[in-house]
Formats: sequence, structure tokens, C-alpha cells
Amino acid sequence: MANPRKPAPGRSPKVGPARPEHPDRVADPAAFPEDLREEARLRPLALREFVGQPALKQQLDIFLEAARRRGEALDHVLFHGPPGLGKTTLATILARELGVEITHTSGPVVERPGDLAGLLTNLPPRGILFIDEIHRMSPVVEEYLYPALEDFTLDIMLDRGPSARSLKINLERFTLVGATTRSGLLSSPLRARFGVTMRLDYYDPEDLARIVTRSAGILKVAVDAAAAREIARRARGTPRVANRLLRRVRDFALIKADGAVTLGVTREALRLLEVDERGLDEMDRRLLDALITKYGGGPVGIGTLAVVVGEEAGTLEDVYEPFLIQEGFIKRTTRGREATALAYEHLGLPPPGAGNGEPPAKRPPEQPELPLR
Ligand SMILES: Nc1ncnc2c1ncn2[C@@H]1O[C@H](COP(=O)(O)OP(=O)(O)OP(=O)(O)O)[C@@H](O)[C@H]1O
Ligand SMILES: [Mg+2]
Repeated sequence: MANPRKPAPGRSPKVGPARPEHPDRVADPAAFPEDLREEARLRPLALREFVGQPALKQQLDIFLEAARRRGEALDHVLFHGPPGLGKTTLATILARELGVEITHTSGPVVERPGDLAGLLTNLPPRGILFIDEIHRMSPVVEEYLYPALEDFTLDIMLDRGPSARSLKINLERFTLVGATTRSGLLSSPLRARFGVTMRLDYYDPEDLARIVTRSAGILKVAVDAAAAREIARRARGTPRVANRLLRRVRDFALIKADGAVTLGVTREALRLLEVDERGLDEMDRRLLDALITKYGGGPVGIGTLAVVVGEEAGTLEDVYEPFLIQEGFIKRTTRGREATALAYEHLGLPPPGAGNGEPPAKRPPEQPELPLR
């Protein structure tokens, strides 16, 4: 990417162009206005209500207990991982568990050092400052953050030129909780200042089924166990997607059935939504199809793929690719992305090297396309 700090269009609800109310893709793990309204009700408020991620919960439990016993602020915490897995949820849970105030902000919103100073000086003792999309904070603001994180002081510059002086402000002890989907874009000095760094991973279908059942209870929808499992299986390992699919299936059940979410109703609704058996949607399939039919299965660079499918390279890397890699549809190599045998199989295409002995896999893109279907 040309400039990793430049906001990708439409990726942030707070800056850049306004987002559409609903996602184009029901399986898009990013948050849309619809989700932001609905999610508040579905968000677990205590650590024990947070489903899955057992290792992370165990560790957090210990850190929380230690901070409580010592009566001290929790160490600075960084949550990283793909969108919709619970980073913001965990930040709010930390505040609740510690009984402290939390102030939410986001990297691109803290534009000037003065903005940061305002946020930090308003925090109560042991309060939490939550900076979402922390990889998008400006480098100047980041510099000011370092002494605040280490010594709980801020060095503010007064005036410019020869009369410039610096003023040291002492801050209350606080906890910074950072969240990012792109930990690779975080500068190493910033990363080093987090005492606790935790990665959130995709959820397995059993945990997602528990999340669906829990959400159904809150939304007062009757969802049977088989339907919850089916939604879970197709939710890209992502609680946000599971909750969104549940809401869509609920609406379908209301209009087309008697409101009860059964396995049959769920399958029918997901078919209409074009979410397939493996949880891939139209865009995922388009991506795999382009990789295979246009580039003989790769390797091909992410920038080229982005142009072909009409999506931002950053979004492909952030949102689509991690799931396709984790599910074994794509391999990421030093020379680019490659389709796996599973991708061919999923699209109903003959695997590379199959058929008349002509290996289509390494065909250079300039050549005329061979009919693979
Ligand atoms: N472990 C979980 N148990 C129950 N619900 C969860 C869990 N994780 C996430 N959720 C639900 O999924 C929704 C999305 O989670 P959240 O907003 O915390 O994700 P995020 O990682 O902050 O995403 P983003 O990167 O887009 O900011 C929340 O409303 C919450 O209800
Ligand atoms: Mg979030």
C-alpha cells in the first residue's frame, strides 16, 4: 500500500466517506451502522459471558485479579486480530470488571497532541483510554503518548521558536487499551510499550453456536440447536457475522415461516443471502475464481487481485484473505497468492494438472485464457 496510515475509503465509521447502512456482503466482518446499533444489546458485559478464546480469558482473569488486589491500574493492553472478533467488547469488559471509567476514541480522531492531552488529563485514576484503530494514529501524537505510557507524564510544548518552552504535566495512572486489525502497521516503539499483547483468533463453530444461542435469547427469537450450528458454521469464524446472519435469518423466518428459526428456514435464508456451505459469499468466490481462471491459480500479487475484483488491496488483506487462508483456500507465498486444491474443488473446477495433462497452474497471465470450466 502506498500509505498505510491513509484511511481506506469507507473503513471507519468516524472518518472518511459515510458507510452504507447495511453491508453489500452479509458476511462482511466490518461493522456497519446497522451492526453498531444492534451490537450494543448483544455485547457481553462480563468476562465470564465472553464466549470462547479460553487462553486469553484465563490470562486476562489473572491480570484483572492482580490489578484489583494491588489497587493499581492495569498494564497497557493491546488487542489485535481480524474485525468483529471482540476487541472492543473486551475493552469494555475490562473497564466493567475493574469498575473504572472508559473513554473511547480512535487513532485517526486524535489528530493533534492537544487532543491527546485533553483525553489523558480528563481520565480519572486507573481509568481506561481505549484507542481503536491505533495503527492509524499520527506519528506526532504517538511521540507524545510514549512518556504518558511510561512515566504518566506529558511534555507539552508552549510557543514556538526561540520562546518555546516545554511544560511537564503529571497524569493519573491510567491504562491504555489499544485495538488494531493491522498489528503489522504498529510502530515497534509503540508496540513495545504494551505490557500485555493479545491476539484474537477466529472462533470455532461450537463457540459461535453458543454466541448465536446467547444472542437469540437476548433478541427473543426461537432458534433450535441445529439452526444455531448451521449459522455458526457459515459465519467465517466471526461473532459479528454470526450475529448478523442470525438477524437476517430471523427476519426471513418472520416473513416466510412462523418466526421459528429451524434448520430448513436457516438453509433457505442463507441460500438467498448467497452464503455457501463453507461460509464463503459472492466476493470470496469471485476472488478465488479470478485467481484460478485469470491467473492459473497464481501466484499473483494482492494488488493485481484487488484490481480484478474491484476491491481495495488493504481490504482484501484485512478482511477476505485471512479467512480464506485459515480455511485453506489460499496460500500466501513470497511470490504472491496461490489457490489451493480445495479452492478448485470448492468452485467445481478441475484441479491443476488434471484433465488432458496440461498443467494450467503456472500459466503466465498474458496468455489467452484456457477454458477451465
Ligand atoms: N466472545 C464473544 N462472545 C459473545 N459475543 C461476542 C464475542 N466476541 C464478539 N462478540 C459480539 O460480536 C460483536 C462484534 O465484536 P466487537 O465489536 O468487539 O469486535 P471488534 O474486534 O472490536 O471489531 P472491529 O475490529 O471491527 O472493531 C459484538 O457486538 C459482540 O456482541
Ligand atoms: Mg472494535
